[in-house]
Order: sequence, then C-alpha cells, then structure tokens
Amino acid sequence: MNYILNANEMKMYDRDTSERIGIPSMVLMERASLGVVESLKEQNLKPDRILVVAGMGNNGGDGLAVGRLLAEKGTEVTFYIAGNPDKVTPEMRRQLLILENSGFSIQRKLELAEYDMVVDALFGIGLSRNVEGEYLELIREINNFGKRGALILSLDIPSGVCADTGRILGMAVRADITVTFAYAKRGHFLYPGREYTGKLVVKNIGVTEKSFIKGRPGAFCYEKKDLQGLLPKRSPWGNKGTFGKVLLVAGSHDMCGACILCGKSILRTGAGMVKIITPACNRTILQEAFPEAMLYTFEDRPEPEKIQKSLDWADVVVAGPGLSTGDISGELMEYLLKDKRCPMVIDADGLNLLAARRELFRLAKERGGKKLIITPHPGELVRLLKTDREEYGTDREKLVSELAGELCCVVAAKDAATLVVEAGREEIYINTSGNDGMATAGSGDVLAGITGGLLAQGMDSFRCACLSVYLHGLAGEEASAGKGRYGMTASDIVEAIPTVMTLRDE
Ligand code: ACO
Repeated sequence: MNYILNANEMKMYDRDTSERIGIPSMVLMERASLGVVESLKEQNLKPDRILVVAGMGNNGGDGLAVGRLLAEKGTEVTFYIAGNPDKVTPEMRRQLLILENSGFSIQRKLELAEYDMVVDALFGIGLSRNVEGEYLELIREINNFGKRGALILSLDIPSGVCADTGRILGMAVRADITVTFAYAKRGHFLYPGREYTGKLVVKNIGVTEKSFIKGRPGAFCYEKKDLQGLLPKRSPWGNKGTFGKVLLVAGSHDMCGACILCGKSILRTGAGMVKIITPACNRTILQEAFPEAMLYTFEDRPEPEKIQKSLDWADVVVAGPGLSTGDISGELMEYLLKDKRCPMVIDADGLNLLAARRELFRLAKERGGKKLIITPHPGELVRLLKTDREEYGTDREKLVSELAGELCCVVAAKDAATLVVEAGREEIYINTSGNDGMATAGSGDVLAGITGGLLAQGMDSFRCACLSVYLHGLAGEEASAGKGRYGMTASDIVEAIPTVMTLRDE
C-alpha cells in the first residue's frame, strides 16, 4: 500500500519532520535536490545545459539547489527567478545567498537560448490559486522549450497542477518527468494532472510515517509489489465450493455478451462456480460460449422459488450487466435485494434500475453495511444521485462519498482514475493502473466479474473493490501490450486476468 497525500498533509508532515523531529528544513531541501540529481543519474540523463525556473516559495529553493548540485558536476546552469525577490520564503532566501556566495548569477529576464533540460520549480504543492500574468507567460515559455526538444523536469508537481484535485489552475507545465518528495500527491494521479505529470519518480527525503502522528494520509494506491500480499489465499485442499459460488443475474434479449464477459471474469479471478440467471433466448449461446457456467433460464418471467433456490446456493450475487431496465428486470432486482444474506455487487442496468425506482434504491440501502459494492461509471453515478455532469466535474470525490453514505456501501466510481470510497471510512483508494484502451464496450462487465470473483473468495468489501479495480487496470495494461490500445476489446481484458494475478514485483 502506498500513501497519496494532499497539500495540507505534505505541509503538516514536512513541518513535523523539521520542527518536532528536528531535521532542519534546509537539510530536507538538500536531500530533495540530491534525490533529483540521483534520479537523473538513474535514468541516465546527463544534460549539458539547463535552465532552472524558480518561484518565490520553497519549490523555487529546491530548484536552485538542484541547479547548484548539477553545476558542481559540470552542467552549464542558467538560474532564473520569477516574482518579487523581497517576498521569498526564508529557505529560498538562503538558497539565493548560497548561489550568490558561490559566484552564480541569477537572471531576472528569461534567456531564450537552447537548453537540454528545463527545471520547473515555479510552484510546488503551495499553488493556491489560478496562475496569471508573469507566471502564466513563464509556464507557456517552459512548454515552448519542451516543444523545441528540451526535457521538462518538474519538481514535486508540474507548476499549475492543483496538488489536491489534479485540476489545471489556469495553465500548467507539461512535464516529461516529475520528481516528487516523500510520497506521491493526489494531483499526480487525478486527471488532468496525471497527463501533465509525465513519468513520476518519488524520492525519500527523510519525511516518514513517524510524522503521521497528527493524522494519517487520506488516500492510497496499490503497486505490483503489493499484489502477492493482497490476493486471497488459496487452500491446497480446497474445492470449487470452497473458492466461492457466484450467482450472476445478467443479460437480456439483446445483451447476452455481458453474461459471458462478466461470468468468465468471475471464474478467471479464481471463484469456484458461477450460475447465471438470464432469459431463455441466451441459453444456447451461453452453453456454447461459456460451458463452465450453470444456468437458470426463464421464458417470460423467472419463478420465485427458482430464484430463491439459486440465492440459497450462492455466496455472492453479481447483478446488472446487460440486464435491461424493464419490469421483469425490476422484479428480479427486488428479489435479490430483499434477500440480505449474500454480499452483492451491482453494476450497469442494476444501477439504472436503482436510479429509476426509488423502492429498489431503498431496498439496496437497507442491505447496508459491508454487504454491497456498486461500480457506477460517471453517467450511472450522476443518475443515482440525481445530479448532473457539471457537478460531477466540480467535486467528484464529494459526490462519490455522498453516494457511499446514502447507500451505506462501497462505491467503486469508474473513471480514468477510479476512486473507491466506503461509507464511514476516512481513507479512499485512488487507482493508478489501466489505460485508455479500456474505454471499450464490456470493460465494466469485466470489472463487475472480477469484483464478484474476489468477493466470493472471502475478501472484505472495501479491500475487494480496491484490488478488483487495480487488477482490472493491470489486465487492461496487459491486454494493450498484446493488442494495442486502439484494438483491444473487453474479451482481451478477460483473457489477461490470469497473467496479472501471477505478477510479482518487477
Ligand atoms: N500565483 C502567484 N503566486 C502564487 C500562486 C499563484 N497562482 N499560488 C501560490 N503562490 C505563491 C504563494 O505566495 C505561496 O506562498 P505562501 O503559501 O507563503 O503564500 C507560494 O507561491 C507557494 O510556493 P511553493 O513553492 O509551491 O510552496 P511552498 O513554499 O509551500 O513549498 C514545498 C512547497 C515545501 C517545497 C513542497 O513542494 C515540498 O514539500 N517539497 C519537499 C521538499 C522540501 O524542499 N522541503 C523543504 C521545505 S521544509 C518546510 O517547508 C518545513
């Protein structure tokens, strides 16, 4: 597990490290700068000529120190400082003094020469409002250097990206590499900030978990190295019943594929058995395309006794993919929601039914506690909350938390950076795996299946949703490695699940 910080958390831990623990802020700055130089070496980058663009805050101080350290190694460094030099922070003033005493000169006018690399140290996590005027022009110039072939290295976070939300405050630097300190920040992973961050490198500067005494970070993500410890353990003497029985309620007259994609994902994730309730028209195709599945198919409407029998058999219910939103589907959802024994995953039309029929929404809410995971995409989330896309764009995290609270459940809110939130839980999960090739029909059915498959193996709902989202993204990466991001399909993601479940740290 890897923490992801917001700006306040980083400031609090920085301050604790220097004031309570006693590592002077100038030492933290020097370590940050040494970390940047080390990371250039690790990437075999040896710029001959660089420009450092520094702001008035401590991010500027980091930039000046990076330039000084590279100059010691023979790089030709041009230092430029923006803003009012009388208003710099004490640490930045100290860095300026060190440069002066070492005989470096500092430009106040940007020299439009050729550089191999531009160090963006205008703003770090301290950016608090839209950039304007001189700063906006500087960001434009830095990006122009990038277009002319200079490598753009941002310190901590690209200037102009909000560290808390990933939003662009006016204009932002498009970095090739961002070296951040201690822990990644939310803005590195939330879009559009993620696109501006380039390759992210995290360097230790001496700020550690020992400084969490005043509050733990509110967000985390997973990495490949975490996988082995997260996957459900398999008993060598287990049988198909031990590994979980999943009842999948999915598919309709025109949407049989969702049963196949979701059902296969359930088994590919390690669950022992899957049984599908679906209309009779899907019977033949399912028997051919997915012989591992058991079926209960119905002609006009499902029989309550047969639904109940299936529910009694199941450990977990996954409902919604391709279900349609007609009356029969509504009735089915009502049966499922009233049976409170099994944990349940609801996706797609299952969610649309909840949004359209308040009675079903109420029943879902009554299941409450840890027994419900929902996996809405932005459209479904907006429908469930009866809000609009504009509000979604303004404060997504708030809306996701609101929905989790209303339904008293776990929400895996699908998007380019999926969030997982549980009602009443302070920490949130921010997903870092996956790519745009996954924005393809049926991809969501695969996530619902992975979630059901892991839940059936006994995972706690929140951890299950986080791991499912992470694995789904990794499977998407694996699929795109084979087929490319343009041509990959949801079936490719399904086929990649077994590979990513055996991944170890690279
Ligand atoms: N337009 C113009 N000016 C702006 C804008 C804007 N849109 N937004 C913010 N500013 C100004 C503000 O005046 C702000 O200063 P203020 O918060 O005092 O008002 C300043 O820019 C913020 O500059 P930053 O350099 O982004 O922020 P800060 O000085 O907090 O430094 C830091 C960020 C600490 C370097 C962070 O990136 C980090 O943690 N780095 C880790 C390594 C490190 O060097 N640590 C040493 C510092 S230790 C310590 O601070 C206790």
